[in-house]
Amino acid sequence: MAEDAILGYLEKNEEIPDSGKFAEEFGIDHDEIVNVTKSLNAYGLVLSQDIKRESLVLTDEGKLYADTGSPEMQVFSAIPPEGISPDELQRKVGPSVFKIGFGPAKQNEWLERGKQLIFRKKEHVDDKVKGLLSQIQAEKMVEPGEIAALKRRKLIISQTWKGYSIIKGPNYALKRKKAATDLTREDLQSGAWKDMELKEYNFNAKGLPPEGGHLHPLLKVRKQLKDIFLQMGFEEMPTNNFVESSYWNFDALFQPQQHPARDSHDTFFLKDPSTTKLLPEDYVERVKCVHESGGYGSRGYGYDWKREEANKNLLRTHTTAVSSRMLYALAQKPFAPKKYFSIDRVFRNEAVDRTHLAEFHQIEGLICDRGLTLGDLIGVLHDFFSRLGMKKLRFKPAYNPYTEPSMEIFSYHEGFGKWVEIGNSGMFRPEMLLPMGLPDDVRVVAWGLSLERPTMILYGIDNIRDLFGHKVDLGLMKKNPICRIGLE
Ligand code: PHE
Repeated sequence: MAEDAILGYLEKNEEIPDSGKFAEEFGIDHDEIVNVTKSLNAYGLVLSQDIKRESLVLTDEGKLYADTGSPEMQVFSAIPPEGISPDELQRKVGPSVFKIGFGPAKQNEWLERGKQLIFRKKEHVDDKVKGLLSQIQAEKMVEPGEIAALKRRKLIISQTWKGYSIIKGPNYALKRKKAATDLTREDLQSGAWKDMELKEYNFNAKGLPPEGGHLHPLLKVRKQLKDIFLQMGFEEMPTNNFVESSYWNFDALFQPQQHPARDSHDTFFLKDPSTTKLLPEDYVERVKCVHESGGYGSRGYGYDWKREEANKNLLRTHTTAVSSRMLYALAQKPFAPKKYFSIDRVFRNEAVDRTHLAEFHQIEGLICDRGLTLGDLIGVLHDFFSRLGMKKLRFKPAYNPYTEPSMEIFSYHEGFGKWVEIGNSGMFRPEMLLPMGLPDDVRVVAWGLSLERPTMILYGIDNIRDLFGHKVDLGLMKKNPICRIGLE
């Protein structure tokens, strides 16, 4: 409205000489006129020039006297013709009016003091102060000397009023074109772009808060674990093949072909391609022998080992399948000790419940060196788990087809107040290592655990489906804190 008024007025008139008067005339708030003028000026629709005016305004005290009369007048009016004692006069007008008004009334020779009483000296007087204040209120001219006197009495103050004089600017138009913020394909095709006014970039605009990505708790914990392994001098194994052959997943690990884990109830087998084509033939031959009739000090399992069973493709059920590939590769070169780790996904054909999923992540560590003992395994487990903040460990004898001895790892959970199983470990069997071609005295100690378990404990999640899978609340990803494994 203010904008239309200004632009409309300038179409017919040369100038708006005074924005204050203009505002009054059109009944628009002057602040609004000021804001619109600034904006129109910035776009060159008008040119404005500052104008300043000194104006006098009454203070609260001044306003009061303009209404009720000056204190000197109040004092004068309270004096009856027969005179009044000072005490009585003060009581009548009140102490403050008396204090302020008595002096000026006396100076004006409106009153005189007798021995005991105060008398009027004049019949009628004129309340000049009230008159002056009313004149100033009405914006009428007043003598400079009078102004100075009223200012001294703090009944009026000067104020600077700021406004504009306004004329047409170089981009004057009756209506402001809305500056375009987008140049579209249609604008270009229709030629509308020629007349378009484009909005200036506002480099000071705050902009939208950047919506960055958020790491899943599993990724945060994985990063911490990876750092721990790297600090301990372990190298990461390549785990980028989810599809594995039964051979590397089971046979190479001395897991017999009748083992229940090799059933389709426990393992996802692939339909297409259902079998692998490439296996290291001479090594396969040694594995077949060790399963069937043993060797390397073993009696074997004594069954007919079938190549077709080994060829079957599956989704790897543990990352130990990768370990077996890596150890075999190691055996093909002159021996050098190695420390390997991996953290990646594995798959098991399991009924999903609050603690089980058909796919999860395994953390696996192994050390391969000459003459390692169970003591070395226990030592490295203490080192590894204490870096996770688990200082109290216990081990329980267990069974894995590929390790002997095998140990389940338990850690004392302060929160639960009990020992909880946190992983599995062991020393790889000679039946597994020797057919690969590793030297006789090379031992491999290894352990594995799930990534989900420690993550759930760290983030206080008690249903695995809240952590992983399609039911995960994305808000959780945004809100969950950084992972502070083992920091005390
Ligand atoms: N592969 C074992 C599992 O899936 C873990 C493990 C790794 C055990 C290495 C011993 C040695 O539970």
